[in-house]
Amino acid sequence: MPLNLKGRSLCSMKDLSTDECMQLLHRAIDMKTELRAGRAAVPLAGKTMAMIFQKPSLRTRVSFEAGMTQLGGHAIYLAPTDISIGQRETTEDIARVLSRMANIIMARTFGHDIVTDLAKYATVPVINGLSDFEHPCQILADLQTVLEKKGRLQGLKLAYVGDGNNVCHSLLYGGARVGMYVSCGTPDDYRPNRTVVAEAAEIAARFNAKVEVVADPHAAVRNADVVYTDVWASMGQEAEAEKRKKVFPPYQVNARLMASAKPDALILHCLPAHYGDEIDFDVSRTPNCVIFDEAENRLHVQKALIVSLLGV
Ligand code: CP
Ligand code: NVA
Repeated sequence: MPLNLKGRSLCSMKDLSTDECMQLLHRAIDMKTELRAGRAAVPLAGKTMAMIFQKPSLRTRVSFEAGMTQLGGHAIYLAPTDISIGQRETTEDIARVLSRMANIIMARTFGHDIVTDLAKYATVPVINGLSDFEHPCQILADLQTVLEKKGRLQGLKLAYVGDGNNVCHSLLYGGARVGMYVSCGTPDDYRPNRTVVAEAAEIAARFNAKVEVVADPHAAVRNADVVYTDVWASMGQEAEAEKRKKVFPPYQVNARLMASAKPDALILHCLPAHYGDEIDFDVSRTPNCVIFDEAENRLHVQKALIVSLLGV
């Protein structure tokens, strides 16, 4: 079946079927090839993306904005103080107004309910550009990167070590969807959300995949094809950063931890990185660490997502 996401929103990685996810990744790889060959299409003339940010960003802002430019459209950056969701006006009214002016909305929020409310009230597609609960666009770029480097996703073991956060949640859903074995190594007090783990396990059971949460980072990483980490304190958790620095050091991705993975294991990190905390700088500069390809793929996979949601 051809990919048809027209009019839909992407709030969660669980919104995509296996087939939709794989088609999106292949479309992203094709669009990347076309861009590099100077043959990229510009189907979005006259189309506008409204980008709502409650939090800072480098990759998300630039990849969506550059992506819209490359597709022939335009993106408008709405800074946290521009619209002050829920303070200056309601999420519902923002969604209804933006739907009259823009063709698509991207939002980076604190509460996940803000993204789902935007999607509920907007009459145009809404893309989650990171909430406290999920980061689906990141995981699409991650899966694209692994597919490009390993040639497949199904059957690979992906180990996520560190905080059971938004990125971890989307990896659990996305990895299970595409038939990966997702092993999360997290301290007991920082495990991913139980419901997410249970739902991902249910998806995994249908797709010959497996998800697990363990406390031992070496057990998570053992024989892994991909090792993934993220910051120990996410945006909004700055006050907990010092406390977390005492708990998380055994989960640092470094040469010792990587010795438990397969010798050709890829290293991923969504960035920004705190070198010396969740990832050792020297390990981040080894050839198997593909963090900059991963960052670049945000651009390609989000372009594929935008054109698919707009049905062009
Ligand atoms: N990975 C990611 O989303 O980066 P930014 O926070 O810089 O957008
Ligand atoms: N977990 C991190 C991801 C940043 C892209 C955060 O939410 O800050």
